[in-house]
Amino acid sequence: MERKFSKFKKLSNKPRTERKEEVKRIDAEIESLVWGGKGLARVDGKVFFVAKSAPLDKVRIAVTKEKSDYGEGEIEKIIYPSPFRMAPVCPHFSKCGGCQFLHINYRKQLEEKERITKEVLRRWTEEARFEPIVPSPMPIGYRHSGDFHLFLDRGALKLGFYEPESHRIVPFDHCHLFSDAFNDKLREIKSVMEGFRMKEKLFKLNLSSDENDRDMVLAVSLKEMSEQACRFLLDELNASGLKGTLFVGTRENEEILRSGDVSLSYALASEKGFFPGGIKLKYDTRSFTQADYRMNRVIVDDVLSMMSLSRHEKVLELYSGIGNFTLPITSCCKEVTAVESSRFAVADAKDNAAANGCENIQHLEGSVVEWIVKLIGRSARFDAVLLDPPRTGAFEVLAHLPSLSPRRVVYVSCSLPTLDRDLRRLSDFGFRPKLIRTYDLFPQTYGIETAVLLEAVK
Ligand SMILES: C[S@@+](CC[C@H](N)C(=O)[O-])C[C@H]1O[C@@H](n2cnc3c(N)ncnc32)[C@H](O)[C@@H]1O
Repeated sequence: MERKFSKFKKLSNKPRTERKEEVKRIDAEIESLVWGGKGLARVDGKVFFVAKSAPLDKVRIAVTKEKSDYGEGEIEKIIYPSPFRMAPVCPHFSKCGGCQFLHINYRKQLEEKERITKEVLRRWTEEARFEPIVPSPMPIGYRHSGDFHLFLDRGALKLGFYEPESHRIVPFDHCHLFSDAFNDKLREIKSVMEGFRMKEKLFKLNLSSDENDRDMVLAVSLKEMSEQACRFLLDELNASGLKGTLFVGTRENEEILRSGDVSLSYALASEKGFFPGGIKLKYDTRSFTQADYRMNRVIVDDVLSMMSLSRHEKVLELYSGIGNFTLPITSCCKEVTAVESSRFAVADAKDNAAANGCENIQHLEGSVVEWIVKLIGRSARFDAVLLDPPRTGAFEVLAHLPSLSPRRVVYVSCSLPTLDRDLRRLSDFGFRPKLIRTYDLFPQTYGIETAVLLEAVK
């Protein structure tokens, strides 16, 4: 039936600058990069943010948005390229939202990330020791897990990431954030899916791999799919040597069908001698894990040294996941109370504690705010708190911390703006930052991981 009075305007599929309406163009030099990955240029006192630009680029910008205090634009022409530019290894880079810095040499990426961190956290870097960014051990092919969108383009199945700030998908055959073996498996899976009769029901997949890319687990998200139909696709996928396959529906984690073992594992080893013999962690691929196993090892070791724990101390760990920090911490203190909301992650954390012989952990499943209120009600006290929240931060939790009387807090964050907001909140409640460390956990993208040590003001 024709909809006569649709209140939605039909959206054009073309980039804004290719549409017919008049486009404003300006020439500018990019000064630096900002959080979010865009380059910043100043024109007549107004700042413009330009995607996929590089510091010292001279560019002609097609303005896509203009407000009274700032504007946004796309590069129409590079008049004079930045000395920091290099040819991006990926032919889809200019369109794809998967990475932002593939066209900037790695040294400059690090320099800019360190400067961006200092700029966003400027209120704190004056009073706390700020250390140079820790480079990635592997700036290309470092990710072990990815969510990929699937869509049908005139009957052909395509797989890719979204364009920046859009739901248009950029299809690719190879993504340089993942290893060659991972990409080979992804192509194999896609080619099996191409033969599937009901491909229009497929809309997302997650592929995760272990440290050697030997074991891989696939999770396929489907729209309204019966178990029987999934079984059909599973039979085809089984030949591709996956360790496990999971079919889930549109509601998060609603399981339709599972085959094989959908868990993977990685090892932690301490270069600083915190947990001799190492720790092995297994995880259900629906649980959170850090993007790169190698850099994760560095961060865990560093967080332990920042916490400087003694054997008699009690630790509260918030947003504890599968035990990535919990288990290493147990070897340095009396006991850890670990709070985590994902039932998959809590089950993994309990299994990991048992498998590694860590008995001094209290696992609390549920929301951090709710558990903190309960712990305060039980007059619980902790010597140190470690928190590693999602990118939305932990604002509502922080006002409760003084009631638990920790002397040290270590805050691990993947979002500088929320970290800055939360440090201000912690400062309001009597904790001041002493040490700030940053890690390039997400090379080629604007992401920055930060760990901050705070101490209670006496
Ligand atoms: C950034 S991850 C950190 C996990 C873990 N620390 C690690 O290193 O792997 C954040 C974790 O917080 C959990 N989470 C998110 N919101 C939560 C909440 N309100 N209460 C408790 N846990 C939450 C997520 O399930 C996820 O495991």
